[in-house]
Formats: sequence, C-alpha cells, structure tokens
Amino acid sequence: MRNLKIVQIASEAVPYIKTGGLADVVGALPKHLRLLGHDVRVILPRYASIDYNRFQLHPLLSPLGVWMGNSEEWCAVHAAELDGIPVYFIESNQYFNRYGLYHDTEFRDYQDNPRRFGFFTRAALQLCRDTGFAPDIVHAHDWQTALAPAYLKTWHWNDTILGAAASVLTVHNIAYQGVYSASHYDYLGLQWENFVADKFEDNGRINFLKGGIFYADMVNTVSPNYARETRTPEFGHGLAPYLNNKGDHYTGILNGVDYDHWSPESDPLIPARFSAADTSGKLACKQALQERFLLDVDPDIPVIGVVSRLVAQKGLDLFAQTVEEMVSNMRVQFVILGAGDKSLEWFFGGLPARFPGRIGSYIGYNDELAHWIEAGSDFFLMPSRFEPCGLNQIYSLRYGTLPIVRATGGLDDTVVQYNEANGSGTGFKFWESSSRAVYYAVGWAVSTYYDRPVHMQKMIHSAMDMDYSWERAALAYEEVYHRAIANKQALGG
Ligand code: ADP
Ligand code: GLC
Repeated sequence: MRNLKIVQIASEAVPYIKTGGLADVVGALPKHLRLLGHDVRVILPRYASIDYNRFQLHPLLSPLGVWMGNSEEWCAVHAAELDGIPVYFIESNQYFNRYGLYHDTEFRDYQDNPRRFGFFTRAALQLCRDTGFAPDIVHAHDWQTALAPAYLKTWHWNDTILGAAASVLTVHNIAYQGVYSASHYDYLGLQWENFVADKFEDNGRINFLKGGIFYADMVNTVSPNYARETRTPEFGHGLAPYLNNKGDHYTGILNGVDYDHWSPESDPLIPARFSAADTSGKLACKQALQERFLLDVDPDIPVIGVVSRLVAQKGLDLFAQTVEEMVSNMRVQFVILGAGDKSLEWFFGGLPARFPGRIGSYIGYNDELAHWIEAGSDFFLMPSRFEPCGLNQIYSLRYGTLPIVRATGGLDDTVVQYNEANGSGTGFKFWESSSRAVYYAVGWAVSTYYDRPVHMQKMIHSAMDMDYSWERAALAYEEVYHRAIANKQALGG
C-alpha cells in the first residue's frame, strides 16, 4: 500500500493535554502510523495549560488568517515534535487562553464552544493550505473537529491543496455531539442549505457530530461492539438512523493501548516494577498504595481501584449507592481517583473520613496516581452505562489488576468472563445497569479472591498475557483510510 500524508485534528493529545482516553488515542496512533511509513501531522489547540518550555514549542507562523462565515479572524501557530511527528498548535487568545478545555472550573460548558472548535477546525485546514501540506487523509476526532469533513466538501472541494483529501471521522463517544444554538451557524460558515435534518439541523439546533457523520468519507468508532450498539436507538443517542445510513462506511476499530506508557515492567511512575514472570513487585505497589491512601496496610485484603471521569456514562452513581453496604458486608478496600460531576466529587471525596482505613480517594486529575492505582489494586471497577472502548480496563489487564466491568461497548470486547469451573477468563462481567448488579459483581470478585486463590493467579496471568497493542489498530486505521479514499473517488473526486 502506498504511503499516505495524514493530518490528525483533535482537541487533546498525550503528552500535551488530556482529560480522557481521546488524548491517549491521539497521542499514540500517529506514532504507529508513522512506523507503517506514513507522513503524519497532528494539530491541536494551544490551551493556556500547555507548557511552552516543557514541550519545546516554537513559533511557526503568525498571523494565520481564517475565514469564518463572513469575517476573517487571526491566530498564531506554534510547533513541536513528538517521536518525529510534527505537532502544530493553534493559538487564539480569544478562544484558548483559559483554564479548561471544554468547561469552566464549575464543570459548566463554555458558552462559546461551537465557535472555539469551529474556528480551530477551520484554522487547522487553513494551516495545511498555508504550509502547502496536501493531505491524502484528514482524520477528525469527536464533535470538536467533526466539521472538518464538512468544510472539506463545502469549502475546499476544488482546492489545489485540500481538494483531494478524503476524510475520516472517529466517534470516541456518541453522547457528546456538540449541539448548539443555530445563532452560531452563520459564524461557522456552513451554508444554510445544509441546515437540514440529514446534515446539521437537530430540532432547530446545530449538531456538529451529525454533520460530520454525513460528510465524512469513512466514520468509525472505537470498538466493534460499540459500533453495533450505536446503530440501535438505545445507544445511538438519536444518531442511530444516520449511522445506519452510512452502511458499511461506518465501522468499529478497537483502540490500542500505548504499552510504552502502560507496562508494569518499565513504568517509571510506579513504586516497584513487575512482570507476568515475577509479580512480587505488585505486592510492593499494593503496600505503597495502601500507605499513600491511608488504608490499613494488609496484603490479604483485596483493594478495588477506580480511575474515572465522574460523569453519568461511567455509572459510578450506581457504585456510590452501594459502596457503604459493600464496606459493611465485605472485607475489602477501595481507592477512588476522579473528577467531574460536583455531587459525585463531594460524595467520593467524603468517604475516607467516614470509612478510615477502608476507603481512600483523591478528587482531581493525577496521572501518577492513575498508574499507582492500576499497579497496586487487585481489581479495577468500571460499572459504565455505556463505554465506547474504555482504556483503563485494558491497562488493568496488563498490570494484573482484574477488571470488574459492565458488559457493554469495548468493555465487553476486551474482558473475558471468569469461569468458576476452571479459572479461565480475565475479569468479572455483569449485565444489568443497577447498584444491585454492581454489588453482586464486586461480591463475586471478592469471594474469588478469598476462596479461589488458584483461580486468581491463573486469571492474573491470562490478563497480563493479553495484547492490545497499537500495531493491530494502526493497520485497521490504514485500511479505513484507503476505504475513505476509494469512497471519495467513487463520489467523483
Ligand atoms: P474516557 O475517555 O471516557 O474518560 P477511557 O477509559 O478511554 O475513558 O480513558 C480514560 C483515561 O483518562 C485513562 O487514561 C485514565 O487513566 C485517565 N483518567 C481519567 N480520570 C483521571 C484522573 N482523575 N486522573 C488521572 N487520569 C485519569
Ligand atoms: C471516549 C470514550 C472511551 C474511549 C475513549 C478513547 O472518551 O468514553 O470509552 O476509550 O474515548 O477512544
């Protein structure tokens, strides 16, 4: 297959800026595409929190003029390099010089989000033009950059630089669609004849993701199971019919994980290293975790970890409803790391004081603690209502920390159910979305810990042997890129 020129446009990427798994994916995929011989560039917003010196940014271009609706606006572009990949940052004082990515400190959406990300997306395409980088593929991620496929087809179809580019849109989470007042439509410059139900219009409002799905030459989501689920009304959040309209132009590719960052053999952030061949370091990690979170230090009590955005999707309210009952009825400890919904933050933040020695928590974002919890826990809990892929359960597998998950989306694709008859499997799955089901699944894991230690050991080894590396996923994306190019050519150029 021929080498491609690919531009990735996204709102976050490791190591620069991260709120969730999107950043892990955009941080890793380019590296693996490059290993396949492709020429990849990444374009991100320059948020105030991206450290200029730490990441060795340097000025590239200023000013860059961007046409929005009827007016031209200006920004500057900075550049850096990551594993040989050029990364560009769009700087706009008006839009990105603020603390949060999408929300203010009270977790309220910024009111000008449609303008911020509409502008960013158009600026990213303009940057390709101004630097003469003619991509074969423009790869957009989530609603924030979902206008890229639309801009290509409505504005740049005849352009010498962008006219031949095919587009791919990856839906990391269909619950976030970017739905905003139609008063922003003129600014976005999407032309009113496209404000129809098949494209951008959604009950009188603008829907970024829906428009992106319509215009993209290929659409994918981040696991095969979630691709199936989102084609149904229960999981499609209103977009199932539009995904079904795409036919086989909509597919699922399971995310890879970056084992350079998430391997117990080499992880520089954890207290001790370990491997499937020698798991003794895991015990040291458990002890350090218990000490750090002021839990009773006891190797024989199972520790259950949670690392999560605290939002309805993750089902942690179901866990919250039953955690006290669990601590009363089971000999178990919990460590919780998360940020998001204020009421959940208050609840989980208050638990250690109520259950000293039994529950530890940290409210906020902390990468090192996320690694400590993966390494030092015995189990990892994800009771998600839906989960497009989920990365934490895959990290858990590699750290020998058995996932307890609701069997939905990518969780169902990546965790193999424990079989009590022979100790096969890699985790504990449950189906019902209720606090009862969470309670019983945790109870099942805890009783396995105490009563069937031989099975525990067998499962830990099976889990650590699982391989979800990016090599496979990068090849799948390569195939999707070629299909996108073919689909675009079939449309006549
Ligand atoms: P999502 O993208 O829906 O949040 P994923 O499981 O795909 O879910 O990815 C979550 C990523 O964000 C993981 O890498 C996880 O470690 C990280 N993460 C989530 N919350 C926190 C937090 N409070 N502190 C540190 N890392 C976090
Ligand atoms: C989203 C999803 C998560 C997925 C991540 C990366 O944030 O919620 O399940 O793993 O994107 O694709």
